[in-house]
Amino acid sequence: MIQKFRFGEPILSDSVVKDIPLSKGNVPYVQTKSEENLSFHYDLAPEDAVYGLGENMHGINKRGFVYESRCMDGARHTDDRISLYAAHNFIIVDGNRRFAMFLDTASIVTYDVGNKNIDQLIITCKTKDVDVYIIEEKDLVSIVSAFRELIGKSYIPPKWAFGYQQSRWGYRTEDDFREIAKNYKEHGIPLDALYMDIDYMEEYESFTIDREKFPNFEGLVDEMKADGLHLVPIIDAGIKVKQGYGVYEDGVANDYFCKDKDGNNFKCGVWPGFCHFPDVLNTKTRAWFGDQYRVLLDKGIDGFWNDMNEPSIFYTQERLQEAYTMVDELRAQGELDLHTYFGLRSKFQTLTSNPEDYKLFYHDMDGKKVRHDAVHNLFGYYLTRAAAEGFDRYNSEKRILLFSRASSIGMHRYSGIWTGDNHSWWSHLKMNIKMMPSLNMCGFLYSGADLGGFGGDTNEELMLRWIEFGMFAPLMRNHNQGRRDQELYTFSHTNWFKNLIELRYAMIPYLYSEFVKAVQTNACFFRPLVFDYTKDPMVKEIEDQLMVGEGIMVAPIYEANVRGRTVYVPEDMLMVRMRSYEEIQTETIAKGMHYVSMALDEVVFFIKKDHLMVLAEPKTRTRDMNFDQLYVLGYITQPIQYQLYDDDGYSKQYDQPDNLHVVYATSTEVSCASKQVQFLKS
Ligand code: GLC
Repeated sequence: MIQKFRFGEPILSDSVVKDIPLSKGNVPYVQTKSEENLSFHYDLAPEDAVYGLGENMHGINKRGFVYESRCMDGARHTDDRISLYAAHNFIIVDGNRRFAMFLDTASIVTYDVGNKNIDQLIITCKTKDVDVYIIEEKDLVSIVSAFRELIGKSYIPPKWAFGYQQSRWGYRTEDDFREIAKNYKEHGIPLDALYMDIDYMEEYESFTIDREKFPNFEGLVDEMKADGLHLVPIIDAGIKVKQGYGVYEDGVANDYFCKDKDGNNFKCGVWPGFCHFPDVLNTKTRAWFGDQYRVLLDKGIDGFWNDMNEPSIFYTQERLQEAYTMVDELRAQGELDLHTYFGLRSKFQTLTSNPEDYKLFYHDMDGKKVRHDAVHNLFGYYLTRAAAEGFDRYNSEKRILLFSRASSIGMHRYSGIWTGDNHSWWSHLKMNIKMMPSLNMCGFLYSGADLGGFGGDTNEELMLRWIEFGMFAPLMRNHNQGRRDQELYTFSHTNWFKNLIELRYAMIPYLYSEFVKAVQTNACFFRPLVFDYTKDPMVKEIEDQLMVGEGIMVAPIYEANVRGRTVYVPEDMLMVRMRSYEEIQTETIAKGMHYVSMALDEVVFFIKKDHLMVLAEPKTRTRDMNFDQLYVLGYITQPIQYQLYDDDGYSKQYDQPDNLHVVYATSTEVSCASKQVQFLKS
């Protein structure tokens, strides 16, 4: 059951797709206080766990920390961070009582989940204009599916986007891309996409191509495409202020940019220097911005990543000026003491992503002037929505890959997300594991972290372990900016990586099937064990094992120098150990605690009783795989049916009945009317 309560006059965010009549009276469960701020208070019982909050720090159970929904560009995701790039205002309390809350607001929200006071959940809104939804259901799975039904179906990318993808901030020329593709090919490591970071643009101007470095961009796209590879360019939110740059001139001429208080186009510094922000909260501007993607779509591009759309502000003129003045004054003074030195440092440190700067510009929301800070968390969503709507106008039949860095709930219908600038730290692999189910609860299914870590230098062991988890994530992209190259063929045990990526490809039939079914049924693709094993007291605190799709459990390694780990097996399962597509060992394993060895080059996963893992023979591109010839692994004790979802991978008719293929299996036989299936020999 969902109830909706309205406070003030909320700005419509388009986060939800269902019209729920407004309820009168008090919001149940919580105590509402409308003092300086609007806040909601709940007394946490000792056994209460708190889930949700999507892209955020810490564990699956969010208790003990403070979180803030404020889309923020910040490259160091350390324990003291309270917000990342997203605003995912969905929170579940599960324990003594069970309910969920969704705060539909475009402004900032803070969640103190038993931090200041261990027994108190306090949700504080920056604005008094909020829609609050309360969801009550019989269990966690139903709560999430009711919420997901409210917010609408998640984005589905093309099937090739389930292949392995390589990125790096540092590929600069046409030949760089040829080189990477060639090296992957020579090492036999499957690959489906190469990412173009900001260096393909002319002076970091979105929707341009540096013709000196990419004289035949079109030819490169075709050449890659002929080889089954997709080039995926980045698009940045800020539009460089520069005469002669068409997008800028067009934007100025048509008043498409956000304004400062005096009505001038608001200016701030991002990668290209001074930029304006497209006012994507305005319908006309959104259409204009979405149409800009055509320059690249026309050249055969079929995937994009939207970046810097929190929007990221490195500096504003105002704040830069203050900093310069301070430098001038202090220079005259000579020596710096404690206060002046730290004051100077902090002046520069607070130039970037300064909350005050978000009060300096305005949107024209179809006739209504709104200061940015009131709608801050919608900007990334609407910029990405602009792209998705543009793609739809361009070609409504075809799926285009799209994911964004900034997000809020609602955007999940238009695109996926990646989790931003993580580091090559073991703690970030662990965070990646714990974040995935929370993202899924909030509707972000096509998602993943920068495998290997974006900042800092990775190492072979970390890369292996990250791949061994990342191979289960819908978005499987290796991206970095570190000094050390991170392409998989640059490590010494190239063959191990080849085998692991081949295994990922082998699993695409299952991953894709489970992904689309999770979208269609508003389910989580990644789930904490507590979602499935509701009566098992053991699983509540297990956050380092996840359910993947309906039938698989993973227990990844996220620590250095270990060659195995303790796994809690919540029911009798089939343990599958794979070194390569050819080297498979299976063994039934009884419910209980087990120490399971996991060599560096092994993937171990567990199949639930009477469920299947469906595989296909891997190839170096998804387009070359035969999805009609399938192999299954399973632990089957009685005749079962598995609903396999498969489609052409490009079109959008997900509901067509012939996309569903029923696989029948007994312990000795397996069959399917529309696909060839057999047991994979182990
Ligand atoms: C941002 C993005 C990162 C990208 C870089 C350069 O930091 O998060 O992925 O490589 O910008 O464009």
